[in-house]
Amino acid sequence: MQNKYIVHRTSYIDDVQCTIYAERKMKILCIGDIVGKPGRHAVVELLKGIKKEYSIDFVIANAENAAGGAGCTSRMARFLLNGGCDVLTMGDHVWDQKEFESFLNESDRAIRPANFPQVVPGKGYVIQKASSGQKVAVINLIGRIFMRYQVNCPFQELKKMVEEVRQQTPIIVVDMHAEATSEKVALGHFIDGQVSVLFGTHTHIQTADEKILPKGTAYITDLGMSGPYDSVIGQNKESIIERFLKSMPVKFQVAKGDVSLHGIIVDVDDKTGLAKSIMRIQRPFAGVISDTEVEEN
Ligand SMILES: [Fe+2]
Ligand SMILES: [Fe+2]
Repeated sequence: MQNKYIVHRTSYIDDVQCTIYAERKMKILCIGDIVGKPGRHAVVELLKGIKKEYSIDFVIANAENAAGGAGCTSRMARFLLNGGCDVLTMGDHVWDQKEFESFLNESDRAIRPANFPQVVPGKGYVIQKASSGQKVAVINLIGRIFMRYQVNCPFQELKKMVEEVRQQTPIIVVDMHAEATSEKVALGHFIDGQVSVLFGTHTHIQTADEKILPKGTAYITDLGMSGPYDSVIGQNKESIIERFLKSMPVKFQVAKGDVSLHGIIVDVDDKTGLAKSIMRIQRPFAGVISDTEVEEN
């Protein structure tokens, strides 16, 4: 009788261990467009606490506006990568800082939209190891509706790349940098079940439509912005209003107040690559950034 009990108990423990192993998750934090010095500092400062609080394994941030709202520089990219970001994605502002082209060519942690013509600098996707050891593929795309560049079809490009990267890892995250919600929603359904997460960037306004799509991909139309919210999408509101009023060129400046980090945290099953949960995050930054620093961008 005693033996039977022991056998049963051992078997029960094995079952539990198997269940835990099968449901092992990894947590991925995705951060919306970082704008200027307020955005850069908020992200690096806030990341320390957020990573610990949520046991984050991997961080992806869109840095297309890190340099005063216009592109990114190698110095700023290094600041963000050393400050806790694992991969930086870009968008339509990727070419605003000429100097950044060589960084894109050399770095294996900063990528630009994959559906640009093949001749442009940089890479469209990258595969990196998370702190927990699993490989994560990050793919960057740009939309074709109301965007300023003539690019290849993001749908076909994504399909091709997913087939390629799935040979190395089932954990795949896609940044679709686009204006039109329809284009992002359609791409999410198009690739549902084949990638872990597809999030939108570019509009700088977080949408409230986060969900797990029917076949298991976590989706949100836009992550929002990481930067000053007392602004018009990160820029000084008075200058933007003046441009709307006059329809004349006006010099923009990164705003200062109400700085926050916006994004999502996704739980991914590291065996299937499918998402288990998605949560929006909006974290205010209480630290002080001096006027001089803001003006320098
Ligand atoms: Fe953009
Ligand atoms: Fe942006």
